[in-house]
Amino acid sequence: MNADFDALRPERPLKFLTYGCASLGGNPDNFQDEVRVARSAMEHGLWFHASQEYNCAFWILRRAFDEDPANKPPLFIKVRCDHAATIEFDVEDALSRLNVECVEIAQLCRSRHDRRRIVADFLNHGEMWQVCERLKSQGKVGRFVLEVFSLFSADALQGVENGLFPAYITYLNLGQREMNNPLFEVIHQKRAPIFSLRSVYGGNFDPEKIKVLRARDPKHDIIQKYDVLEPIFRESGCADWVEFSFSFLNSCPNVLSTISGTSKFQRLQELVKAEASARPLPSALSLRIQNLHRQWLKQ
Ligand SMILES: NC(=O)c1ccc[n+]([C@@H]2O[C@H](COP(=O)([O-])OP(=O)(O)OC[C@H]3O[C@@H](n4cnc5c(N)ncnc54)[C@H](OP(=O)(O)O)[C@@H]3O)[C@@H](O)[C@H]2O)c1
Repeated sequence: MNADFDALRPERPLKFLTYGCASLGGNPDNFQDEVRVARSAMEHGLWFHASQEYNCAFWILRRAFDEDPANKPPLFIKVRCDHAATIEFDVEDALSRLNVECVEIAQLCRSRHDRRRIVADFLNHGEMWQVCERLKSQGKVGRFVLEVFSLFSADALQGVENGLFPAYITYLNLGQREMNNPLFEVIHQKRAPIFSLRSVYGGNFDPEKIKVLRARDPKHDIIQKYDVLEPIFRESGCADWVEFSFSFLNSCPNVLSTISGTSKFQRLQELVKAEASARPLPSALSLRIQNLHRQWLKQ
């Protein structure tokens, strides 16, 4: 783990699994069940990843936090990084709606999905950098991290080379790596910390889902990825694809934590169990997966 992030809540250090809240709040009929899922994630000591844009996830979280205020989790919140005003608004809005004093991590993202502006601003200590520094000094945000998509890897590359952010957050799982090859190599070389999104690739490699998709669309991108990963899965000895997913992420030395979501109580327990039983893959296997990612990004 990373001492810099652990220090944000020493009594509740960052775990390898972070609970993602995007599936919460979609259906009011499930309100109580979902509050129970959120409370269970709190009891497991997980950090939470959430956003104002996720359905009505904040309703579920607010109720869960009100029911067990002593056990509020450390939070990861998405904020729009187009202007100083949007950064400040999204942070203050999250604090007030969730009734918390701070968020441990704010993820600079959204809107245009173009990071040039924030990277240039941070390099020049502009108004967005200043508002971020102020929010940190007020104790409202612990760290600001940059969201990366492969199309905008060049901006992140500048961030990594200039040490602008303490970590980067991106889709990284068996089926996806949203960093272009040059960025991935530099991140790897510099051991820049990463938060990985979508630990189990949205459940797409679940063998039952694969069977259905194969019958409908055998040439689908997901089927092609599954078929080349499947021999590696068999060699890995992992019990299932969930454990295989966590084992792969465990093999990536700079991944601090991986964000996975569910609105189902049982599935949350499976994710917690898989995270606990996962071990890094033998390096030959994880290199084969990384080579597949390189090839997929070239296509
Ligand atoms: N740009 C961003 O910041 C960004 C983008 C995407 C995601 N996220 C974050 O990452 C979190 C996770 O993303 P995600 O939900 O897309 O990906 P994920 O964690 O890889 O997959 C979770 C999804 O897969 C299903 N699932 C989980 N385990 C399964 C299993 N064993 N078999 C079959 N299906 C399974 C879940 O369905 P059920 O709900 O039915 O269990 C859920 O819809 C989100 O909650 C959000 O916090 C952030």
